[in-house]
Amino acid sequence: MSTRVGPARGEDLTEILALLEGSGLPREGLEGHPALVAREGERVVGSAALELYGSSALLRSVAVADGRRGEGLGGRLTREALALARERGARRAYLLTQTADGFFPRFGFRPVPRPEVPEEVRDSVEFVSACPGSARAMFLNLTEGAR
Ligand SMILES: CC(C)(COP(=O)(O)OP(=O)(O)OC[C@H]1O[C@@H](n2cnc3c(N)ncnc32)[C@H](O)[C@@H]1OP(=O)(O)O)[C@@H](O)C(=O)NCCC(=O)NCCS
Repeated sequence: MSTRVGPARGEDLTEILALLEGSGLPREGLEGHPALVAREGERVVGSAALELYGSSALLRSVAVADGRRGEGLGGRLTREALALARERGARRAYLLTQTADGFFPRFGFRPVPRPEVPEEVRDSVEFVSACPGSARAMFLNLTEGAR
């Protein structure tokens, strides 16, 4: 069965939250932000979401169901989310990760000291309370060609 990546629908929220929980990612603060899902039939097998703060985007909730990892879905979701961020006018993307700082450099993300993250992004639920202080912040300049 083919897997399609596209916008999340309201009714996907429960499945996305379960996927995040199963992947060890924070669920707090997700609702109300644009999200993408990888869908196989009616089942959600992957997610990515964006919090948009003017010209800055926080990429979050990139997760692929156990058993479906290593098939390129995480890459597809990340690229589509970054394309959506550009479409919405973001010029910079940030993320926080504890376990995947080896995954995101392939899209151009580089570690960035937290104080260099714009204040509006640092004020997000993900930064303030959902992700532990030990999580690494990463940055991507969205105005330099897509990968
Ligand atoms: C990170 C994650 C989204 C990757 O999804 P995926 O569908 O397996 O990724 P892809 O199939 O597109 O890419 C696989 C490649 O990424 C690498 N990779 C996957 N997870 C990685 C990680 N945590 N750290 C470093 N590299 C990773 C694989 O080794 C593989 O490398 P290769 O192409 O050189 O063989 C998935 O492992 C996941 O859901 N992890 C738990 C949640 C998480 O940590 N999310 C990121 C924080 S927002």
